[in-house]
Amino acid sequence: MKKLLAALAATTLFLFAGHAGAQNYPERTITMVVPFAAGGPTDTVTRLVADVMSKDLGQQIIVENVGGAGGTLGAGRVAKADPDGYTLLLHHIGMATSATLYRKLAYDTLNGFEYVGLVTEVPMTIVARKDFEPTDLKSLIDYVKANKDKVTYANAGIGAASHLCGMMFMSAIQTPLVTVPYKGTGPAMTDLLGGQVDFMCDQTTNTTKQIKGGTIKGYAVTTAKRLDALPDLPTAEEAGLPGFQVGVWHGIYAPKGTPPEIIERLSKSLQVALKDPNVVARFAELGTVPSPEADATPAALKAKLEGEIARWKPVIDAAGQYAD
Ligand code: MLT
Repeated sequence: MKKLLAALAATTLFLFAGHAGAQNYPERTITMVVPFAAGGPTDTVTRLVADVMSKDLGQQIIVENVGGAGGTLGAGRVAKADPDGYTLLLHHIGMATSATLYRKLAYDTLNGFEYVGLVTEVPMTIVARKDFEPTDLKSLIDYVKANKDKVTYANAGIGAASHLCGMMFMSAIQTPLVTVPYKGTGPAMTDLLGGQVDFMCDQTTNTTKQIKGGTIKGYAVTTAKRLDALPDLPTAEEAGLPGFQVGVWHGIYAPKGTPPEIIERLSKSLQVALKDPNVVARFAELGTVPSPEADATPAALKAKLEGEIARWKPVIDAAGQYAD
């Protein structure tokens, strides 16, 4: 009987502590994991959003870059973290594609996290080092086909958005690419600017400034319509790749078991960040827009992730590129 009472007391204490923790959340610094290297598009989006969420929540949010394996190392780190609201993940479309690309993931994509909400959907651009010979997308395709063993394509590992776009490009032109993997397209951009790698497909949040400044060459954008931020850049459709569209949506996740009151508080804070005038202005300069308030919710992110896993599975299976 004594043991039963002790167990009952311990459980009650635990539940009460958890509830009290949730009620007073946040009481200390929060870590937001970016599963790619610093200085890349995911890092850029995260720091803009985390800055406003930090002010709204009244606690510092530290951005921690955990790169490698196309974003799956960072996602795995958060899946194993304590479900107390103090370790979060901001990841993108790679969360969905990795579910098919990786035979053995260290986490359960659909059931290993709690969902906070969608953040933004970023267009991609096909770009090259500024002195790369091809002058437009058609001549780029011809050049890559004629020099397929020489031309180098940068990506951020299997599961990255740059990998997905590269895989779509290879399928579209029916030509394999020599790929150079990085821990993020931040470092990849450094090599593109330095001429150490030939071309890549990366998000406007990492390429707009460079395309406008002429320090890299832009060939096309992967949206149905041209972007206000890059009005002279044709869509891939216009430039010779019909139906070549991909948008890099981003979401915020927490470890499975994070109390619903904390998830709710985080979702509300995300909605505040996405309406912040500076975030809206900076996103516009970088070729993207914040997700609408109704999408910055757990249900919207869950639905998006489920739909995108189903959408990209046949594309990935057709390409036949997997990671062990
Ligand atoms: C990054 O933040 O480095 C990119 O999202 C990498 C990628 O997904 O291509």
